[in-house]
Amino acid sequence: MIDSSTSLLQQQTHDVIRLAMGSPAHDAIPAALLRQVVGEVLERVGSAAYDYGPTEGEQSLRDALAALLNRDRSTALPDNEFLITSGGMQGLDLTCKLFVEAGDVVAVESPTYTNGLATITSYEGDLLEVPVDRDGMVVEQLAEVVARNRRPPRLIYTIPTFQNPSGTTLSLDRRMLLIDLAAQWGSVILEDDPYRLLRFEGRDVPTIQSLARGRARVVTVGTFSKVIAPGLRVGWVTGEPEIVRRMIDAKQGVDTCTNVPLQLAVAEYLCEGLLDDHLQIVRPCYRSRKYGLQEALSAHLGDMGATWTDPDGGFFLWVSLPGVDTLELFEVALRAGVAFIPGSAFSASAGFRDALRLCFASTGVDRLHEGVRRLRRAIADLCGDTRPHSPKS
Ligand SMILES: Cc1ncc(COP(=O)(O)O)c(C=O)c1O
Repeated sequence: MIDSSTSLLQQQTHDVIRLAMGSPAHDAIPAALLRQVVGEVLERVGSAAYDYGPTEGEQSLRDALAALLNRDRSTALPDNEFLITSGGMQGLDLTCKLFVEAGDVVAVESPTYTNGLATITSYEGDLLEVPVDRDGMVVEQLAEVVARNRRPPRLIYTIPTFQNPSGTTLSLDRRMLLIDLAAQWGSVILEDDPYRLLRFEGRDVPTIQSLARGRARVVTVGTFSKVIAPGLRVGWVTGEPEIVRRMIDAKQGVDTCTNVPLQLAVAEYLCEGLLDDHLQIVRPCYRSRKYGLQEALSAHLGDMGATWTDPDGGFFLWVSLPGVDTLELFEVALRAGVAFIPGSAFSASAGFRDALRLCFASTGVDRLHEGVRRLRRAIADLCGDTRPHSPKS
């Protein structure tokens, strides 16, 4: 659904306010600086920049990434506990390649990231859906769901920080409980963490991996897609040495190495301190866009019983629209000039028909308001004026 939305959106010739895709705004991509660092680094490294590189990643990027991750750690990240990947998706794929065999149970949040679900099902994992509330996955229910299922999960897939699509963050208590349960069942936790650096308010919650400290096996997937640019296709995985070694072997058979010139460019970007500067700019911008979108929702959908989440970072709001079929709404809204992703795209069982995901990060506040105004018009077109309106709870 997300990928088909990209091509559908590209075909539109009328003005469409794009609240669908989870990518940084074009105006938030540091294109001029990237052009400069790419030029500088490629000139300096010369033809070696176009050779095959080490599967675990270019040394300059490994050093720069370790320095970035070490800021959050009490001990330095050992060299054998991470590898560079071709985006976050490759980290998800390699983890499933290692840990999911046909029929293995994989616990997932519901709703969750569509392409994460696609990766798990491509390895024929059996999905076990666990609900999400304002504090992320309802881990207390995970134990009940597993008891009913009578088979513990081999893998637990979670997006604990500014979740896609709900924007929620897994609380510290639930992180600890999740680790306990994974340790008890011998499950691996797949911590998919692309939005962590995009906190614009509230207090940091430590990664599950740092909290687990060897009590449970945790693979953490990161990416530069959301903080620099998705087209770079540069990400990383951290995990225990045995897992990382097996991932490097597996990656060799997939793409040999991640694109070398772009790894060098990202390394240069980090070494020059440009990521820090960039984050200082985008975080307040995304914060004001989140509030802008929430105000627009109050103004235009507040009388319809609509509710929405309140994330402390990341890109997304999850909106519930009782009584509205958002899959049917999608085409009507596209004609009205606004795009979103229907809720059912984020569920293995096609649930959430009355919910949708909006990305606030890639659109200015005025256009966000106009987008929600168009959404309201589309709802009126779809449902007519006979639909009962209830006050916002
Ligand atoms: C939760 C989550 N995981 C992984 C990814 C994939 O990241 P990348 O584009 O670096 O492959 C995304 C991108 O939307 C995401 O939202």
